[in-house]
Amino acid sequence: MATNGNSSLINSHFSISSVLLILLAISPSGSHIITGYGFSIREATIDDLQLAFKQNQLTSRQLVEFYIGEIRKLNPVLHGVIEVNPDALYEADKADHERNAKAPRSLSGLHGIPVLVKDTIGTKDKLNTTAGSFALLGSVVPRDAGVVTKLRNAGAIILGKASLSEWANFRSLAAPSGFSARGAQGKNPYVLSVTPCGSSSGPAISAAANLVAVALGTETDGSILCPASFNSIVSIKPTVGLTSRAGVIPVSPRQDTIGPITRTVSDSVHVLNTIAGFDYNDKATKSASKYIPRGGYKQFLNAYRLKGKRLGIVRNPFFTSGTGSLHAKAFEHHFQTLRQEGAILIDHLEIANIDVILDVTLSGEATALLAEFKLSLNAYLKDLLVSPVRSLADVIAFDNKFSDLEKIKEYGQAIFLASQATNGIGNNEKAALLNLKNLSRDGFEKLMRKYRLDALVTPGPDAAPVLAIGGFPGINVPAGYDNNCVPFGITFGGLKGSEPTLIEIAYGFEQATEIRKPPSFKP
Ligand SMILES: *[C@@H]1O[C@H](CO)[C@@H](O)[C@H](O)[C@H]1NC(C)=O
Ligand SMILES: *[C@@H]1O[C@H](CO)[C@@H](O)[C@H](O)[C@H]1NC(C)=O
Repeated sequence: MATNGNSSLINSHFSISSVLLILLAISPSGSHIITGYGFSIREATIDDLQLAFKQNQLTSRQLVEFYIGEIRKLNPVLHGVIEVNPDALYEADKADHERNAKAPRSLSGLHGIPVLVKDTIGTKDKLNTTAGSFALLGSVVPRDAGVVTKLRNAGAIILGKASLSEWANFRSLAAPSGFSARGAQGKNPYVLSVTPCGSSSGPAISAAANLVAVALGTETDGSILCPASFNSIVSIKPTVGLTSRAGVIPVSPRQDTIGPITRTVSDSVHVLNTIAGFDYNDKATKSASKYIPRGGYKQFLNAYRLKGKRLGIVRNPFFTSGTGSLHAKAFEHHFQTLRQEGAILIDHLEIANIDVILDVTLSGEATALLAEFKLSLNAYLKDLLVSPVRSLADVIAFDNKFSDLEKIKEYGQAIFLASQATNGIGNNEKAALLNLKNLSRDGFEKLMRKYRLDALVTPGPDAAPVLAIGGFPGINVPAGYDNNCVPFGITFGGLKGSEPTLIEIAYGFEQATEIRKPPSFKP
C-alpha cells in the first residue's frame, strides 16, 4: 500500500513517456505516432489508458499507485472513498502480468483498469460492504455482487468502496445528501460548499476528481442521475435488470439498477459492456438480456447518429421550474445544437399526470418502496455469512444503541421506522403498484410511442421519478456550469432497452458540446 504520493510516479511517468516519444520518433514503423507531449493519467479515458498499457507507457501498478496517491491527498477533503482495497496493487500486478503474457482476457476493455464501487455493492475480499453504516461493519457477504464478478472476470481492479448517502438515502429524511456515518460528508469537487447530491455521491465525486478511472453507482430514484449532474459526470442508469442487483444492498428490486459513473460517454459504455448481462442470482437479468445488442454497446459510439433522432421536450414542469428554468438559456442553446446535429425536436409535449408522478406520496412510489425495502433488506441481511444485524429491526436497534456514532439525534431514521411498520405487499401496496404501472403506461410510455420518440430530454436529474417508476433507462451528460462553477447535466431518457439509442444521442451531444472540465475545488 505504501506509495510516496503521486509526484514521483508522475515524474517517472513523464520521463518514461518522453523516452518513448524519442524512441518512437526514430522508430522505422510509423504506426505508433503519439501526439501531444507525454501521457497524463489525470483525465485519461479507458481508451487512453489501454493504449498507454499497449505502448508500454503505463502499467496497472503505476495507475493504482497514482490513484491511491490522489485518494491520500484529496480524500480527507472530498470524502469520496470509504475504503481502499489492500489488495489493489496485487491485483494490478496480476493484470500487468496477464497483459505481458498476452492472456486472452487482457483484450477486454476494462482489463487492468481500477474501478471504485459504491459501498452498497458487495465484494468478497478484504473490503467491507456497509452502505456507509457502522451497523454492517464486519459483516461478511456470501459472494461478490453479480456486477463485481463480471468486473473481476474482465480483469478490472476493485480499487475500493465509494461513499454515499447512508443506506442509499433510505434511512432518514433529514440527513444531508452524501453523508454517511462511515464515509463522513462527501464534498462536491467543483464547489466544496455545494451538495454532491446522492446517493451515489462517492462514485461521482471520485470519478470527477480523478481519484479513480471509473466507478459504479446504484439508483432507485435519482441516485445515479443526480450526483452525475452535480459532479459534471457521465452516467448511465440502465434499464432495471440489464445489470445484476444480486449482492447489492437493496432498496427495491422493482426499481434498483446498477450503472457506470465516469467522465465520458465512451468510458460509461466500456463499463456497461462489462457489467450488463445474465446473472444466475438475479432473475430479472434473464429477461433483460434480450436488450443487449449483438456486439455490445461500443458500436453506438458514433458522433453522427443524432441525425434523425426524435427528441421530446416536456416544458411543464421541466423547463418552467427547477434546473431547467435556472439554466433556460443554456438549454435553449443545447436544443439548437441538437437540431444542428440533425436531431428532430418535438417541443411542448405533456406527460399525463406529471404532477402525480413527481410526487412520491401521490404516485404510490413511497408506499411501494417502504414495503419493498423491508422485504428485500431483510432477505439481504439473512443471506450474509456473518453479520451484526439480521433484519431491519436489528439495524434500527443498532442505530438507537449507537445513536452518537450514527448521528440519530441529528438526522433520525424516519424512513427506516416507516418501512419497519409495513407488513409485506398488502392491499395498499398492490394498489400503489398498480397506480405506478398505470402512471407509466398513460404517461411516459404513451408519450414516447405516440410521438415515436427516441428519447425525452430533461434537465439534470429532474425526470428521475418518471424513469424510476417504470424501470426505464437514462443517461446524464454534463451540460454546463452556473456563475459559481456549479455543474449541471442533461438527461436523455428512453423506453426499456433503449440504451443503444440513448448512447448514440448522449455521445453525439457530448462530442458536439465537450462541456466537461475537471473540478476546480472552489470553497
Ligand atoms: C473492514 O472493517 C474492519 C473492521 O471491522 C477493519 O479492520 C478493516 O480494516 C476494514 N477493511 C478495510 C479494507 O478497510
Ligand atoms: C389502472 O388501469 C387499469 C386498466 O386500465 C384499471 O382497471 C385500474 O383501475 C387502474 N388503477 C389505478 C389505481 O389507476
